[in-house]
Amino acid sequence: MKFFIDTANLDQIREAQQLGVLDGVTTNPSLMAKEGITGRNNILKHYVDICNIVEGDVSAEVIATDFEGMIKEGEELAELHDQIVVKVPMIRDGVKALKYFSDHGIRTNCTLVFSPGQALLAAKAGANYVSPFIGRIDDISSDGLSLIAEIRQIYDNYAFQTEILAASIRHTMHVIECAKLGADVMTGPLSSIDGLLKHPLTDIGLEKFLADYKKGN
Ligand code: E4P
Repeated sequence: MKFFIDTANLDQIREAQQLGVLDGVTTNPSLMAKEGITGRNNILKHYVDICNIVEGDVSAEVIATDFEGMIKEGEELAELHDQIVVKVPMIRDGVKALKYFSDHGIRTNCTLVFSPGQALLAAKAGANYVSPFIGRIDDISSDGLSLIAEIRQIYDNYAFQTEILAASIRHTMHVIECAKLGADVMTGPLSSIDGLLKHPLTDIGLEKFLADYKKGN
């Protein structure tokens, strides 16, 4: 399972990178705004800064919602750095853009996916990643994890190469459940990765080992 961090915060990206388990980064316009990154040039520069910290894929989202606009923006984003993956929303023109990018060797992440049908369409259009937003499904009292299971089954039935990128991860148990269900990638906050480290018996055990060592030395 690949680990992506879902943030535009450079300090958090550096911290996750230093842990040695980071495979990439996802961003979106809201995450950029949260860091105060505004204006086209600043946003483009920020993507390059992120690419210079991590070794893996960095998702950069188009703002246009029409086919021509998405193609223009996506080509500009893809030219920024070879780690850039163009993030395209699951709308009618987005599906057309996914197919165009796939035919022209530009890698894509289909975002804002909330149903198995949307995920099937994204795979048919040649998306490299599909992003089901499991946390937002949970937020409306539905079951985000069952969407991951459904997409896994559909993709396996037809050997689609599109990677399932479990997105809108809110906590560590989401990561573990997605791993059990066979999601290829998870993207979440740093806290969801840090949570994997923690177990009280590890802390108690280590304390005891160190105390026993000190007794004999
Ligand atoms: C995915 O790429 C999105 O950036 C993200 O996971 C959305 O998560 P949220 O629902 O916490 O905003």
